[in-house]
Amino acid sequence: MVLLTGYNRVRTAVFISGTGSNFKSLLKFSKNKISPISINLIISNNPKAKGLNYAKKFKIQKKVLNFKNKILSEKKLLFLLKKNNIEMICLAGFMKILSKNFIKKFKGKILNIHPSLLPKYKGLNTHKRALNNKEKYSGCTVHFVNSRLDSGKIILQKKIKISKNETETSLAKKILVQEHKLYPKAILKVLNL
Ligand code: GAR
Repeated sequence: MVLLTGYNRVRTAVFISGTGSNFKSLLKFSKNKISPISINLIISNNPKAKGLNYAKKFKIQKKVLNFKNKILSEKKLLFLLKKNNIEMICLAGFMKILSKNFIKKFKGKILNIHPSLLPKYKGLNTHKRALNNKEKYSGCTVHFVNSRLDSGKIILQKKIKISKNETETSLAKKILVQEHKLYPKAILKVLNL
């Protein structure tokens, strides 16, 4: 995906549902002088998402869409994305499934981060399932979003070792640290930088 035009930064929207630590790390990345992206829009399905506070702090336009009526929410979303000239979407802990129609409209321009070594453990409760299966390794994956859940082309992965006394919480924490490093790297890769 080559989106860079001249010296313009790739206008990016980040979708979140909760804490937004990946959003925070992407924000930090975007604030770097030589960063290829700018974050211009933040979307959440959850009005209580902690990550929304960063939007306020960094004066980024935010919009909460409840997704109860997916067709309507996505219609509003498409309007906003267009209005803000958004060229790339980064899903960062966004827990809603986007429709095929929406994904088609942004084909090849939606990235997601998932806390497992895909294709293993798609969907929810990844850490619990990895531990129950006595996996020796886990990790995180940044991939393109296609119409099948957590199944798009893999961009980058980071593998980590599961310790002896690992718990769901400790594993999630360990992987999250790697997620924050992996997402910016994956963006650079996607933009051929
Ligand atoms: C992250 O671990 C992310 O990989 C995961 O949710 C967490 C969000 O944390 N995403 C998924 O499970 C998507 N299927 P954050 O809100 O602190 O970035």
